[in-house]
Amino acid sequence: MPCWPRPEVIAHRCGGALAPENTLAGLAIAARLGCRAVEFDVMLARDGVPVLIHDETLDRCASVAGRVVDLDGAQLMATDVGARFHAAFVGETIPGLDAALQRCRQLGLAANLEIKPAAGHEVATGRAVGRQLASLGPAGRPALLLSSFSAEALEAAAAEVDDIPRGWLAPAFSAGALDTATRLGCVSLHLAVEGLEAAHVAAARAVGLRVLVYTVNDPADARRLAGWGVSGVFTDRPDLLLDAIR
Ligand code: G3P
Ligand code: MG
Repeated sequence: MPCWPRPEVIAHRCGGALAPENTLAGLAIAARLGCRAVEFDVMLARDGVPVLIHDETLDRCASVAGRVVDLDGAQLMATDVGARFHAAFVGETIPGLDAALQRCRQLGLAANLEIKPAAGHEVATGRAVGRQLASLGPAGRPALLLSSFSAEALEAAAAEVDDIPRGWLAPAFSAGALDTATRLGCVSLHLAVEGLEAAHVAAARAVGLRVLVYTVNDPADARRLAGWGVSGVFTDRPDLLLDAIR
């Protein structure tokens, strides 16, 4: 497996810390900074519509309370998640997956779509995401990498669409994480930067897995990881990391 010359700088939750998370505004900012790839989280609304959101509740990013699984897609897509971040982003709402994929294509961004099921909705979420991607077909999608902390979700997505590469998300390196990634047919293992060692990266690469690391905001960390042979870093500060390692 060849080592990429430099790790890909992947804007975390669309635009990292420079825009409200998981929004189309974040995608635009990532592209304007020169990112070639972004990451975002996808959860199902009550009516089965996949939308971009990280938490199971609205409280942290919106100015209203509520659970994602209790609201329909249309309600979520009308929910402002910009104002809480900064007044400059008032009117920025939760995007549906379709809109995010379309915008990535327009902006030339590759996307790591993290399937983020609400608890108990693992299979349904993977299935819905997989079906939506399958219906778009390769020509209707941006370059994609699917990932999840949920094996059930990833397997359900793979059953619907088998031509999109997958990554296994693990909180930390372990032999079990390597096994799971291999069992799920993944091309990559996504690991937290905390506690990560050069030997972990080498062990993953030795079994044919690329290593992507989250969340890396310090340019010195990014340069160290580049030396270890990681293939990508998820960052809230693409502005800093693009200058540091590209
Ligand atoms: O996919 C990498 C990273 O996004 C995983 O953590 O909690 O930000 O989704 P989280
Ligand atoms: Mg994520």
